[in-house]
Amino acid sequence: MPPICTSSTFAQSSPGVHQGFEYSRSHNATRFALERCLANLESSGLSKEQDTTNGAFAFASGLAASATCLELLDSGDSILCMDDVYGGTNRLLNRVRKRSMGIRPVHVDLTNLATLVSAIKVHAPKMIWVETPSNPTLKLVDLREVAALGASCGAITVCDNTFATPVLQRPLELGFDVVMHSTTKYLGGHSDVVGGALVTRHAELAQRLRFLQNAIGSVMGPFDAYLTLRGIKTLHIRMRQHCASALRIAQFLEAHLKVLSVSYPGLASHKQHALASRQMKLDGSSAFGGMVTIHLKGGLAESRAFLERVKVFALAESLGGVESLIEHPAIMTHASVPPEQRAALGIGDNLVRLSVGIEETADLIADLTQALR
Ligand SMILES: Cc1ncc(COP(=O)(O)O)c(C=O)c1O
Repeated sequence: MPPICTSSTFAQSSPGVHQGFEYSRSHNATRFALERCLANLESSGLSKEQDTTNGAFAFASGLAASATCLELLDSGDSILCMDDVYGGTNRLLNRVRKRSMGIRPVHVDLTNLATLVSAIKVHAPKMIWVETPSNPTLKLVDLREVAALGASCGAITVCDNTFATPVLQRPLELGFDVVMHSTTKYLGGHSDVVGGALVTRHAELAQRLRFLQNAIGSVMGPFDAYLTLRGIKTLHIRMRQHCASALRIAQFLEAHLKVLSVSYPGLASHKQHALASRQMKLDGSSAFGGMVTIHLKGGLAESRAFLERVKVFALAESLGGVESLIEHPAIMTHASVPPEQRAALGIGDNLVRLSVGIEETADLIADLTQALR
């Protein structure tokens, strides 16, 4: 097992002559072990000669990873971003970097490639940012098509792969330039460590990200890197259970009288089920992840009553842990998204998001049954 290297600095034999480790913000053996593991999982394809950690970089949180990635842009650049993204990503783009850095975020529905083509013509983006499945409405983006369109206009394509994980899809293999993760979620897997990551398949981008990671300094600490690596050891087997259980729960909820609609890429009723079946695979078969989003019949009162009554599901933000979580995006994870944008995306008072854990599926269904009753 990789040891936790807590040294912040390393002795030099002569000024400027070190053994490969100088100062822990720049070089840390435990973080390097995690970064090389992430590069491997996401198929960076870079050798150690091209980049010390094969093109992967770990950060103090998912948002720290995103914030560092945005520093690849210059002031005045425009970025085309999926309309439905994690609320914190939306806040970082529109309430922080738009002001402090002068970047121009434009939100577009990337499920519609024609919209993307015309947005590229109008805005000449330097970066295209996608989430698939998206948070919280679970829309899908055709990664291969978007990567090709991004390459044709010279934009850096970034995919937040937090929901799918490299077990289900590897965007770099489909032509994306950078993969971003909140490792807080499935990679860590136990809701006990916050972190983030970027992985690239280009040596030139790796060099720029290495500079930015060190220059900005929001690195992941060694204890967190150790815990995240430990979590990753069971990622594959956890994903099997998350996917199997979420599909059964989505089917159960779709048939329930108190549920208006269910969004889960594994249901035939999902508008992009065919794309999901093609793009998301586990052990060679289609698999759709552990996140399920529902619209309840009713409004805030009904949602509140349901969320207060669950016993096995914990009412909490975050996702991707072994335990099942449930939340109300409009009040919780997506409260920072402007109300008009939330309304346009259908993130209303009756929307509830479930992160299906790895507990016994029958217990989870029994819990939802009693809470809905
Ligand atoms: C899809 C997605 N991306 C990014 C983030 C941000 O990650 P973190 O909370 O680790 O900063 C989150 C957090 O919920 C997320 O769900």
